[in-house]
Amino acid sequence: MNGQKWLWVLCCTVFLMSSAPAAHAVVARSACIVCHEALGGSLAKPITDWRDSIHFHNSITCDRCHGGNASVAVGNVLQLSGPQFLAIQSAAMSKANGFVGKVSGQELFKMCAKCHSASVGRYKDSIMGKAYLGKKGGPSCVHCHHAHRNVIPEVPQVCSKCHKDTGGFTRIDPMNVTVAAVARLSKIRIQLAAEKTQGARPALAPRFSGEMSSYKVGLLAFGAIIFLFLLGYVVYVIFEKGDEK
Ligand code: HEC
Ligand code: HEC
Ligand code: HEC
Ligand code: HEC
Ligand code: HEC
Repeated sequence: MNGQKWLWVLCCTVFLMSSAPAAHAVVARSACIVCHEALGGSLAKPITDWRDSIHFHNSITCDRCHGGNASVAVGNVLQLSGPQFLAIQSAAMSKANGFVGKVSGQELFKMCAKCHSASVGRYKDSIMGKAYLGKKGGPSCVHCHHAHRNVIPEVPQVCSKCHKDTGGFTRIDPMNVTVAAVARLSKIRIQLAAEKTQGARPALAPRFSGEMSSYKVGLLAFGAIIFLFLLGYVVYVIFEKGDEK
């Protein structure tokens, strides 16, 4: 190999090594993380929750959701004077730079819709989406997916906080519960109930209505034979008594 080839190999290796921890590099530079981590407690909790989330792995940093300016120089947070700290904080978290804090309602939908407009569209017109926006107890995106440690929730476990009967919930789209979906759900539930009663019958009992009637016919025939036998016996006894006189 000549010198030029070696240079190429070296460049590629350095490139691969430096691109792998790219997310970590972004994190290290973010003013939001530097300051919130130094403050600790509940202000640092979103960072620990968010690390290892799908958003973290896709370099979706704090400012991509909350806005603000993440490239303000922070320095050593714990050595800043009061006014210095406030100046840096308000520069980072300024409304002028589109900062939003703890969002809810339409503002939350707007935040997620920046990247998930299809998912928000699916949810906002659903029965539960409307119940959320109308403050009637519907779940928010955060309720099911968390704000920072994003998850795809377990169904129906996540539903059972608000619904007693979660039968059939795994067979509908939880983000798009509409009138049509509720109609489909009731059919699914009737089917599930039928399957359950069938499964609960004793193994020897007939399963279908056709067999059920032949079963009844058998019973009737048996009853009839007993009846005729008894009738014959009564007639016999009467004749016997007649003979004795
Ligand atoms: C110099 C320190 C500092 C920097 C830099 C900083 N923050 Fe904060 N942040 C704070 C403090 C202190 C609070 C709590 C007091 C308050 O809300 O003013 C806070 C509160 C918050 C809240 C909660 C607000 C609410 O409505 O409850 C959010 C969200 C937030 N910061 C996000 C960010 C984001 C995103 C960035 C980066 C763009 C950032 N912060 C940069 C110090 C900082
Ligand atoms: C995917 C979008 C998203 C990202 C990324 C994100 N946040 Fe949040 N954050 C939210 C939402 C939504 C809320 C409101 C949560 C609620 O209603 O309980 C929130 C709430 C907060 C709060 C208020 C206190 C709390 O825990 O509810 C703080 C502080 C905060 N975020 C800081 C941060 C920091 C620091 C980062 C970067 C590590 C970050 N957030 C990244 C969406 C995000
Ligand atoms: C700046 C863009 C951005 C914003 C804002 C954002 N996300 Fe994401 N989100 C992504 C990316 C990128 C992924 C990973 C790729 C994918 O699956 O789409 C992702 C993945 C997800 C996933 C996992 C999807 C899966 O298939 O596993 C959930 C759940 C999610 N986001 C919820 C939210 C919620 C809730 C909000 C609002 C509070 C939000 N996101 C805001 C970019 C964003
Ligand atoms: C009642 C719980 C629930 C609520 C509320 C909810 N989701 Fe979901 N979401 C789920 C479940 C379960 C899945 C996975 C199954 C699926 O895709 O149907 C999912 C899937 C997703 C995905 C993965 C891609 C996709 O569309 O399938 C994203 C992104 C997402 N949700 C974002 C959101 C956002 C943003 C909101 C608020 C506007 C929201 N979700 C509200 C339960 C919920
Ligand atoms: C925070 C509480 C909450 C959670 C969690 C929740 N729901 Fe709901 N759900 C509601 C409310 C409120 C309504 C609206 C009731 C109404 O308007 O009649 C509703 C309505 C429904 C309906 C239509 C009415 C019915 O009961 O048949 C279905 C179906 C439904 N939710 C399914 C789900 C599924 C699936 C999940 C889990 C993935 C879930 N819900 C999680 C609160 C919740």
